[in-house]
Amino acid sequence: MAWIAFDFNIVVFFVFIVMNQSYHGDAAKNDSLGASFIFGDSLVDAGNNNYLSTLSRANMTPNGIDFQASGGNPTGRFTNGRTIADIVGEKLGQPNYSVPFLAPNATGKAILHGVNYASGGGGILNATGSIFVNRLGMDIQIDYFNITRKEIDKLLGKSRAREFIMKESMFSVTVGSNDFLNNYLLPLVSIGVRVSESPDAFIDDMINHFRGQLTRLYRLDARKFVVANVGPIGCIPYQKTINQLGQNECSDLANKLAVQYNTRLKDLLAELNDNLPGSTFVLASVYDVVMELITNYGKYGFRTASVACCGNGGQYAGIIPCGPTSSLCSDRYKHVFWDPYHPSEASNLIIADQLVDGDTRFISPMNLRQLRDL
Ligand SMILES: *[C@@H]1O[C@H](CO)[C@@H](O)[C@H](O)[C@H]1NC(C)=O
Ligand SMILES: *[C@@H]1O[C@H](CO)[C@@H](O)[C@H](O)[C@H]1NC(C)=O
Ligand SMILES: *[C@@H]1O[C@H](CO)[C@@H](O)[C@H](O)[C@H]1NC(C)=O
Ligand SMILES: *[C@@H]1O[C@H](CO)[C@@H](O)[C@H](O)[C@H]1NC(C)=O
Ligand SMILES: *[C@@H]1O[C@H](CO)[C@@H](O)[C@H](O)[C@H]1NC(C)=O
Repeated sequence: MAWIAFDFNIVVFFVFIVMNQSYHGDAAKNDSLGASFIFGDSLVDAGNNNYLSTLSRANMTPNGIDFQASGGNPTGRFTNGRTIADIVGEKLGQPNYSVPFLAPNATGKAILHGVNYASGGGGILNATGSIFVNRLGMDIQIDYFNITRKEIDKLLGKSRAREFIMKESMFSVTVGSNDFLNNYLLPLVSIGVRVSESPDAFIDDMINHFRGQLTRLYRLDARKFVVANVGPIGCIPYQKTINQLGQNECSDLANKLAVQYNTRLKDLLAELNDNLPGSTFVLASVYDVVMELITNYGKYGFRTASVACCGNGGQYAGIIPCGPTSSLCSDRYKHVFWDPYHPSEASNLIIADQLVDGDTRFISPMNLRQLRDL
């Protein structure tokens, strides 16, 4: 029995240290993030689509099989464990994951740790993801934040609410992939668009909408922004399968579109940094981090960067989304991709690490720990 008492003392000791730290202003400020407001698509959806009638859903096994907080049950996250946003929140000291806006518990004080508006299939453009019938695009996600914003006023009072949003909250936006994958590049649905609109014009349209959306968030008092660029969508198992590519090949067209958009996004964020007083826009180069993982997967302990762990169809299990009847790999931590579209938790851990503590190669002009501490 003695060792139990001994352990207990250690626990008490640690709790004491932690509490003692958080009582002292400055140290506490560095130790935890006030709130994390999360916008975007299935890369960061934490369950909103469970509440929509949509074809874009992940609340079925084996999704979530490694998600400890749910005991391995599906939550609506499109991966086997935590999303990048979950892990970033943990690293920055967020006590609970941001609640999905559409979940019944997204009320009262729970929203003061943050809210997640992200939705599988959603994009910058309103028409993106219409093949899934329902999803929340960026315009709607910001309408919803406007609702949360008023609730925070009620909870904290107007002046404290403003300070809380401006100084202690982080706004992350992970969007854009679906505008290509589930809009511009769709073979049938938007063939009309592709014929009539050049990549330049389409990307112009995206950037113009995105400028308006980020500016709306600023008008609602958001100041600390992190915006992810579009990953190497030409290298996901889905694109490799439908284009019948080899192990080490990626779809040129899809990656070129991503790179072209990412160049414009970088300029947009610089422009907003200059034009919106008091704002900080940080660019998360998900493209470069994921490309590094794909290129040097062996170095990071992965066995494959081309075959999905969960999925069906073709050489890379890249056609049919992950569900109860999918084939499932036995070494989930050795796959860069969980399913035909999404990175595995093992990849998300590496990506989140780079965003929180990495250097300007992947996150600029500062990393997320520095953004939090501004
Ligand atoms: C808080 O973070 C800032 C910037 O990262 C740093 O200069 C300061 O020393 C930190 N304060 C404490 C108490 O750790
Ligand atoms: C975290 O969420 C749980 C419910 O899931 C709740 O009981 C707890 O109070 C929350 N913690 C904080 C710090 O809000
Ligand atoms: C809110 O409900 C979701 C399930 O919809 C659960 O996973 C999460 O832990 C809950 N969070 C809080 C803070 O209660
Ligand atoms: C965006 O799409 C929604 C339906 O998903 C529709 O109700 C709304 O009017 C659209 N907004 C614009 C600006 O087209
Ligand atoms: C937020 O909602 C109010 C109406 O309740 C509206 O007047 C205002 O324009 C909205 N703000 C933004 C930035 O969308």
